[in-house]
Amino acid sequence: MHGVNFDILERRDASFYGGRSLSELEHQIARWAREAKLEPIFFQTNHEGEFVEYLHRLPDLADACVINAGAWTHYSRAIADALGVAALPAVEVHLSDVEAREDWRKVSVFDGLVVEKISGKGADGYREALDVIARELGVGA
Ligand code: DQA
Repeated sequence: MHGVNFDILERRDASFYGGRSLSELEHQIARWAREAKLEPIFFQTNHEGEFVEYLHRLPDLADACVINAGAWTHYSRAIADALGVAALPAVEVHLSDVEAREDWRKVSVFDGLVVEKISGKGADGYREALDVIARELGVGA
C-alpha cells in the first residue's frame, strides 16, 4: 500500500526516492513477490479516507500488508487505527532513511502495529519486507 505522493514518485527528490516511477517500483516488487511465492496486489491514493477504507476491506483481500504511507506515517492516527482494525501482519517500509532526516519523520504512528520497520534501503527495502511477510505467513517454509 502506497500513500500520498507516490503517484508522482519519479518527480520527487531522487536522492531520497531513487527517481523511478511507482509503476516501475511496483513491477520490481511484483517480481520479488513471485520469487517469494507471494501474490501481490497494489493500492495507492492521495486521499486519506480512501486509504482508511481500503484498510477496512483489506482482511477480505489479503493475508498481510506492506505499507509505505508516505507523510501520513508521521501523523495520521486515523490510518494507524484502521491498520490496527485490519489486524494483519504488516511491515512498514520507507525508501529514504527517515531516521536520518528531519525530526518529524522519525515519528511513526505505526509503532507497535507493525512486525518490522524498514527504512533507508531504497527499493530493496520492499524485498526485505516481502521476506518478512513470507516468514510470518509460513510461505515457502
Ligand atoms: C517516505 C518518507 C516520508 O517521510 C515521506 O513523507 C514520503 C516517503 C519514504 O518512502 O522514504 O512520502 O515514506
